[in-house]
Amino acid sequence: MKTKTNRKDFIKTSALLGLGALTFGVNAEPIVAEPTAKEADSKPTNGKYELPALGYAYNSLEPFIDAQTMEIHYSKHHQAYINKLNEAMDKEPSLKNKSIEELLLNLASVPASVKGAVRNHGGGHWNHSFFWKSLKTGTSMGSEFTKLATASFGDIENFKTTFEKVSMGVFGSGWVWVILQNKQLKIVTSANQDNPLMDAAAVPEMMPKVILGIDLWEHAYYLKHQNKRIDYVTGFWNVVNWDEIEGLLK
Ligand SMILES: [Fe+2]
Repeated sequence: MKTKTNRKDFIKTSALLGLGALTFGVNAEPIVAEPTAKEADSKPTNGKYELPALGYAYNSLEPFIDAQTMEIHYSKHHQAYINKLNEAMDKEPSLKNKSIEELLLNLASVPASVKGAVRNHGGGHWNHSFFWKSLKTGTSMGSEFTKLATASFGDIENFKTTFEKVSMGVFGSGWVWVILQNKQLKIVTSANQDNPLMDAAAVPEMMPKVILGIDLWEHAYYLKHQNKRIDYVTGFWNVVNWDEIEGLLK
């Protein structure tokens, strides 16, 4: 069964690409990614994944996310995920031209020798690349998101308080995501550097469109907010790039 996917700019179902280097079970076919411009950016260059451009200054999200946190988070933490992913992929040169989306969507079929690294470090690479694009000050929630959130949660206030409550309930390190699935917005969590794409191979008919995510690792907020995660989470609404989110819904 070919699988419809919805992640605009990153992932679309296409029969144009094959994943010959990956092996799949009898009933599983690879979920493939269409080489859109942004998806192409997530492919390795000369076999190496690279840190994507941040696109804004470290201090541009002040005072909600401080410049020092942004610099360390982007240039150290994200870079470390990429470095470790590249180290691991040296062991499986047959996979070295795959976009990170292709690997995560087909995680179940990635060779055991690198599966853990793809999950943790590849997941970290995708999650942070997505996160950086979701951040900007000065934008307003768009009409499409407002409509969907109202339909799914009753009103925007309930959407926000639900998101905050779920974020406060994440134990340890992880993420909270807003996904679009069956025309409904849903709030889901993932541990460590997992993300909703990783479920796709197991339950392809449930392929979500990832709309928004918040990094709840302490490295994302501890320098400024210390143990007050709630301040980081409630401040997050001031730095969501609603223009980007609205674009994902079109
Ligand atoms: Fe992070």
